[in-house]
Amino acid sequence: MSIRRIAISTGGGDAPGLNAVIRSVVVASLNRGWEVVGIRDGYSGLLEPERYKTPLIKLDRESVRGITHLGGTILGTTNRGNPMRYPKLGPEGSLVEVDRCAEVVEGLKKKEIDALISIGGDGSMEIAARLFDLGVRVIGVPKTIDNDLDGTFVTFGFDSAVSFATECIDRLHSTAEAHQRVLVVEVMGRYAGWIALHAGLAGTADVILLPEIPYQTEAVAAKIRERNAHGRNFTIVVVAEGAHPSGAAASVIGQEVGRAERLGGAGNRLTKDLEQLCGQEARCVVLGHLLRGGGPNATDRLISLRFGAAAVRALDQGKSGVLVALDPPHVRYIPLSECTHRCKTVPIDCDTVQTCRDLGVYFGDEVLAAS
Ligand code: F6P
Repeated sequence: MSIRRIAISTGGGDAPGLNAVIRSVVVASLNRGWEVVGIRDGYSGLLEPERYKTPLIKLDRESVRGITHLGGTILGTTNRGNPMRYPKLGPEGSLVEVDRCAEVVEGLKKKEIDALISIGGDGSMEIAARLFDLGVRVIGVPKTIDNDLDGTFVTFGFDSAVSFATECIDRLHSTAEAHQRVLVVEVMGRYAGWIALHAGLAGTADVILLPEIPYQTEAVAAKIRERNAHGRNFTIVVVAEGAHPSGAAASVIGQEVGRAERLGGAGNRLTKDLEQLCGQEARCVVLGHLLRGGGPNATDRLISLRFGAAAVRALDQGKSGVLVALDPPHVRYIPLSECTHRCKTVPIDCDTVQTCRDLGVYFGDEVLAAS
């Protein structure tokens, strides 16, 4: 079936590069004579149109001019609007989750949309796979600063987040040294330690704590004491938000209806414990949403523009139900079913982990030899 009109949806947490993908999709589509509309806030423009003046935004050349370098998404996004688990007021006044995927399919049909490009992380790809099963022609584009989506070498947004985190770690070195403090830097990443590992190594942290390698708090304290004994009276610890001591769970803030659980508190928990165990002043810096905000760096702009155009080529070639994936130097297409329900975590035997160990960066998992 030929294409006349397509829709774009951006879902889940934002990431640098979303607007670059949107521009790429729009320009490549207009050049084929297709119309493009953007759905507001994930799928909310279809499921709750009454909330918006324009629930679907017509995307022409003018509307995507000059947006490649901008952070956020001109369509808006949400991590509360999953149509598979849409929050609704239940009979007792409490929120319950309902499946509204059929309404999305209906909405797309009503608006005469022939195909959908869904830009998002694991949650968005799960939704895209479901819509594909329900007969929607759909292509997925992998986004997340966490880089935890399987099937692609990297997701867009990751490199910008790592670059910013590295710059922050660089800045923290001098103040940690000046005050002879322990500085704990918490970074996002959910249950994958990619941001912590890459920024920690690039920023020459002394200790890196990952969800993939449970740590012993006492062993981290011993490392700090050992550094102090050698006259290195400050320590930089990078901790992933999903990292946890062995035998304990990750620090979770809460679980709301219709969305994934919120992580948080790993850095503060560790800082308190280290201060007590080492008797040395410690401070915690939570980088949090600073890693998601701001524009994409050159690497992410390039990946995003390539992903957007590749998604349009896929539709043009009659493909559906696939994810655009980076397999340098190529962009490939893999079935959506191959990237959902799995989290790409850091392989603990990978060379980046090995490089850290070779350079003396500590993961808190081994008992230190007596110095
Ligand atoms: O998945 C991206 C991400 O930024 C995670 O690293 C983090 O745990 C989560 O989103 C935070 O989500 P929210 O902005 O909803 O608190």
